[in-house]
Amino acid sequence: MSKKAFGIDIGGSGIKGAPVDLKKGKLAEDRLRLETPQPSTPEAVADTVAGLLAGFEIADDMPVGVTFPAVIQQGVALTAANVDKSWIGTDVDTLLTERTGHDVFVVNDADAAGIAEMEFGAGRGTKGVVLVVTLGTGVGSAMFVDGKLVPNAELGHLHLAGEAARAYQDAEKYMASSVREIEDLDWETWAGRLQEYFAHVEFLFSPTRIIVGGGVSKKHEKFLPLLDLRTEIVPAELRNEAGIVGAAVLARREEKALQKKDTKHGKKHGK
Ligand code: BGC
Repeated sequence: MSKKAFGIDIGGSGIKGAPVDLKKGKLAEDRLRLETPQPSTPEAVADTVAGLLAGFEIADDMPVGVTFPAVIQQGVALTAANVDKSWIGTDVDTLLTERTGHDVFVVNDADAAGIAEMEFGAGRGTKGVVLVVTLGTGVGSAMFVDGKLVPNAELGHLHLAGEAARAYQDAEKYMASSVREIEDLDWETWAGRLQEYFAHVEFLFSPTRIIVGGGVSKKHEKFLPLLDLRTEIVPAELRNEAGIVGAAVLARREEKALQKKDTKHGKKHGK
């Protein structure tokens, strides 16, 4: 059984990928990063993904997991908050499978990062409700119940009740990491916004643990200690590689599930 799968993380500015060692939860080779084409239309992104895969010598049957920053149901993108709107309704799974010649499985980016954290990082073995919240250009979220993913939780788009937050409508427009940079907020001011957000999330879900991911999580000492919650809130452990690793884990899982289904089907038909 193959211990490797390929993971690709599609983001607003870069598309990154590498083969992943699924035993260790680590990249098996250095990752490659290509610029996300602008405009980031499905066709242009599919070409870049195929170009990225062509940069590696990998077996034709290696499954490929791909993260995408949108709600993904049965391989189809249903939203497009921070990517080109032409993605809505695109069967990302089929498009990328056809373009790359590999079996591609697409997953929401935060769900992928969450899968990696639950498998190899800060969520390992944690029971109950675990929330993984990624702070980046947008705010992504992944929800797990006793280790099982509840797919496509979109907690970045909650509406907060505070007067300042209401002016921004979506929570992510008020407290994403990109907003801290654009508005040049100091850590305390930003942490104040995070406090409002996480207190609300905590009230809604009473999680056992909250894991904070995204690039800014490597500076967690600057803002996590400023938060006052009853829930344990910890930084993600996989950081930049969580998406790639999680996508690869998912691709391997989905491939195994398909093979199991095929075997059962084969037996039923006396093959
Ligand atoms: C999208 C999510 C995504 C998150 C992080 C949000 O705007 O709605 O699907 O996970 O950004 O990229």
